[in-house]
Amino acid sequence: MRIALFGGSFDPIHYGHMELIKGALSSGSVDVVIVIPTVANSFKRGRALIPAPYRYYMTKAVIDSEFDRNVFVSDIEFSFEGISYTVNTLREVTKDSFIIPFLLSNGVKGEDALTRHQFFWLCGSDILPSFDTWYKPAEILSYAALLCARRKGDDADVISECAKLKNQFGCDIALFEMNGVDQASSEIRNHNSFDSIPKAAADFIAVHDVYNAVKAFDLCSDSACEFFYDAAVKMFPTLSGKRLLHTLNVGLLSAKLANDHGVSCDKALIAGVLHDCAKEYPIEEQLEMARKVSGDTFTDEKLLHSPAGAYLAAEKFGITDKEILDAITYHTTGRGGMTVLDKIVYLADKIEPSRTYTDLSEMRRIAPLDLDRAARLCLDSVMDKFRRKNRPIHPLTDAWNKELL
Ligand SMILES: [Fe+2]
Ligand SMILES: [Fe+2]
Repeated sequence: MRIALFGGSFDPIHYGHMELIKGALSSGSVDVVIVIPTVANSFKRGRALIPAPYRYYMTKAVIDSEFDRNVFVSDIEFSFEGISYTVNTLREVTKDSFIIPFLLSNGVKGEDALTRHQFFWLCGSDILPSFDTWYKPAEILSYAALLCARRKGDDADVISECAKLKNQFGCDIALFEMNGVDQASSEIRNHNSFDSIPKAAADFIAVHDVYNAVKAFDLCSDSACEFFYDAAVKMFPTLSGKRLLHTLNVGLLSAKLANDHGVSCDKALIAGVLHDCAKEYPIEEQLEMARKVSGDTFTDEKLLHSPAGAYLAAEKFGITDKEILDAITYHTTGRGGMTVLDKIVYLADKIEPSRTYTDLSEMRRIAPLDLDRAARLCLDSVMDKFRRKNRPIHPLTDAWNKELL
């Protein structure tokens, strides 16, 4: 098969990207396109991309809704350490051990998936003048030819740039013409023009309130932000998309609430982002980890991930701060003597933007103004639900409730 690889940050994905993919397919040069969001997980203040899982799942939502069976999204860069260079991505993607299982798992049948593949790196003609300054350009071209979109109206320089590269590297460059869509991710972000991008991306941004929520990073130190970015990537293999996005949302909202209520935004960001890190481990493993943190205090399967999360936060993520570990341990039950940080994570867990419980609007309204009242409302609603389902109230929750009466 002839496979185009299309890497980018997709922050956010827009119609320019879509036109490039459609143009590549209709040019007849390739059979399928694999879209590869960059992970590049290091946080750089002032020019940081939004955390990689948001960009990956937003891109996937768009590709899955707009294309049938010939465009796929790959998460391969989540398994890379450090900066992701194009050459590293190409080296891995073009291996049979990667590409054959990837195509099969995306529904490409037998022969098509197994036959020897030909790879193209999909790009716009704007990269041509500086391509020789990329990291290891000759090695890039040993894995893939360039498949380059030329917008109608581009000047003749494209031809001479191609000739220059062909001469320098002895490489193939396939050109195709497309109708350029004048969109740029930075413009869309800066002007909040999310109504001008594919609907699935606009919906995703609205559900998670992504570009507003990430303003919480401005309240936190660089090291806390870096921790968040790294944790988001580290949790990618062990949490489903929905759970991972939820836990990122809780981290960001916790930091904002911490700022409103005068406690450490860094601690809230970290406790929030890790609060469900153990949630999708096998129950036996959760039980074992939970016991190490709190003996037999938690036995209900639904609660085990809280102390187990504190265990993982310490062991896997290196957290030693007791306030953070406690906020994770008690985020499902609460406890007598709740700290401000405990209440923030407990509440953020229930009201982060993607939550759809019916009774959240008042809690969301007052959470920045009166944390105790919002937490009280939240606890009442949780206890109410438990009583209706005839589920026992945990003694720790009971203790907190009695304290508030
Ligand atoms: Fe949880
Ligand atoms: Fe949660």
